Amino acid sequence: MPDNKRILVTSALPYANGPLHLGHLAGAYLTADFFVRYKRLTGADIVFICGSDEHGVPITIAAEKEGVSPQDIVDRFHSINKKAFEDFGISFDYYGRTSSDIHKETSQEIFTTLNDKGFFKKKTEEQLYDPKADMFLPDRYVKGTCPNCGFEEAYGDQCEKCGTSLSPTELIDPVSALTGEKPELKKTEHWYMPLGDAQPALEKWLDTRKNWKPNVMGQVKSWLNDGLSDRAATRDLSWGVPVPLDEAEGKVLYVWFDAPIGYISATKEWAIDQGKPEAWKDYWQDKETELYHFIGKDNIVFHCIMFPIVLMEHGDYVLPENVPANEFLNLEGKKLSTSRGWAVWLHEYLEDFEPDMLRYALGTTLPETKDSDFSWKDFQARVNNEMAAILGNFVFRALSFTGKFADGKVPELIDPSQTDLDALEAINRQKEKVANSFEAFRFKEAIAEAMNLARVGNKYFTETEPWKTRKDDPKACNNTLHVSAQICAALSVLMDPILPASMKKLREQLGLSDTLSWDDISTSILKTGTTLSSGEILFNKVEDDEIEAQISKLEERASANDPASNFPSLKDNIQFDDFMKLDLRAGEILEAEKVPKSDKLLKLKVDIGIETRTIVSGIAKHVDLEHLKGQKVCVVANLAPKKLMGIESAGMILMAEDSEGNLKFAETTAEPGSPIT
Ligand code: MF3
Ligand code: ZN
Repeated sequence: MPDNKRILVTSALPYANGPLHLGHLAGAYLTADFFVRYKRLTGADIVFICGSDEHGVPITIAAEKEGVSPQDIVDRFHSINKKAFEDFGISFDYYGRTSSDIHKETSQEIFTTLNDKGFFKKKTEEQLYDPKADMFLPDRYVKGTCPNCGFEEAYGDQCEKCGTSLSPTELIDPVSALTGEKPELKKTEHWYMPLGDAQPALEKWLDTRKNWKPNVMGQVKSWLNDGLSDRAATRDLSWGVPVPLDEAEGKVLYVWFDAPIGYISATKEWAIDQGKPEAWKDYWQDKETELYHFIGKDNIVFHCIMFPIVLMEHGDYVLPENVPANEFLNLEGKKLSTSRGWAVWLHEYLEDFEPDMLRYALGTTLPETKDSDFSWKDFQARVNNEMAAILGNFVFRALSFTGKFADGKVPELIDPSQTDLDALEAINRQKEKVANSFEAFRFKEAIAEAMNLARVGNKYFTETEPWKTRKDDPKACNNTLHVSAQICAALSVLMDPILPASMKKLREQLGLSDTLSWDDISTSILKTGTTLSSGEILFNKVEDDEIEAQISKLEERASANDPASNFPSLKDNIQFDDFMKLDLRAGEILEAEKVPKSDKLLKLKVDIGIETRTIVSGIAKHVDLEHLKGQKVCVVANLAPKKLMGIESAGMILMAEDSEGNLKFAETTAEPGSPIT
């Protein structure tokens, strides 16, 4: 394993236009943190970089929606998100932001270098323009129908349904997201990256990439098969990094041009903080450094095609060793949607539960190779049946038994049995397996293999029955406690990348230092005689009512955001025969008058073909009395008659209640008397 290599890990810079949710974590952050924490344990020279993406249309649209400035939006969400990451234990070495001065300089320098090298193609083209807002409409400022899949809500930069990257003029029936107006075409000049020209060089480099995940390479190949085209690196917007050319007054860099450069600027800022301002070069300009970009699948094209081309053309920078992108996470079987309120927000989760529980539960359901689903029931099962019942339980049994019957000290191992030796050997075996899985970005597998060591421990403890040997074979009992303590110690390091807070607690219970490394994982981490503090429970179980509360919270929020769900839910099924008992008829209102002393009831004379009925109906507030004569209606004709305010009502008029509670006639065009079946 090349553990001495210098490593730079980046996680996609989240837009500072809203809070973080579980989908973000599962895509680009949790796996990166697992990897980084593991690599740090192996002694790697590693820096972990992230920050806020503070430019681009997502930011300005959020600001316009709230009626505040873009700066207000990014200030707010930069601090909320930075804190949520910290509280969740995502261990960035530096969390920057793309509105910083260093970022402005860095991205302008890169643009200028490329421009001086003649990389960009300057082109004047017609672009969509909103005359009402007096503004060009790049990217998400236009919506329309996707030319590829027909999805009607596609954005000007990308169709979220089929993933195709688009330019605004490709949209069918475009409308301005600002004013709803149909845009005009207007000429404007921009600096384009000729990605097609760079394609052969890119492909040559991609051929040298080994061990990339098939989902990532597959997407990249399909882009390349379609052939790359020119992409503008500049925009007509006022929010962003100004294009550093006099002739480009009023233009800014395209957000996807400046944002990935944010990784470089943040590394520079980290280096300054370290008191070694030049140190960033070791990570970006020394060809021996391994660069890893952790991202979600919607970012693949930018990290595997566009940014590498920019870096290659510039020439001074390393290209990524690997881009282990994840697929998407669904929530309770449905696509995550922030606008529809179908999301679990990280800062809210942290108010209710421990970070480690989610790190584990999400870690075991990661969308590593295909989309996956997070559900609260599964969360509960993972915590209760695995964290608490396997890992927590084993540690508790081993430590409390040692506390009670061995004076809380690790006993000596004397003449171990084959069972003892096998259990000890599992430490080395699982250490190897977990390491291999981490190295291969197979995090679900790493977690499962780490948990398997706790399983071995539990099984071993049960089989060797120390509660019996304590009396009749004290040496065997001591061996069980010695071996169990060593397994606990191994787990406290093996599980550390996944459960950092709880494993720190465990190491404290074991009297182990926090500076243990991966190499220290062995069958003899603990010295004989070490005092263990016993009995503190590592994980509390999650109760049913806590889970139900989360599910209701989610559903309430979703229904508040969804007009359709203001309707009552569907009733239970009935049999066909039940339905056939109803005699429904087409009818026509002949006369209508108010029922005296009632503001709700109307007395109606209704022609139902065979006869005329008197029907009292509670619709006075919803209809216009003057216009009722001649109204066609559907009538329940065989409803047993009932007296209302002294008037016998023979039947019922069918009304539909809309989402605002208004009653509307269920109309029919059939002649009165026609049976409705
Ligand atoms: N803000 C982008 C998103 O949320 C990710 C930017 S990643 C970077 O999709 F490379 F540009 F930094
Ligand atoms: Zn589409």
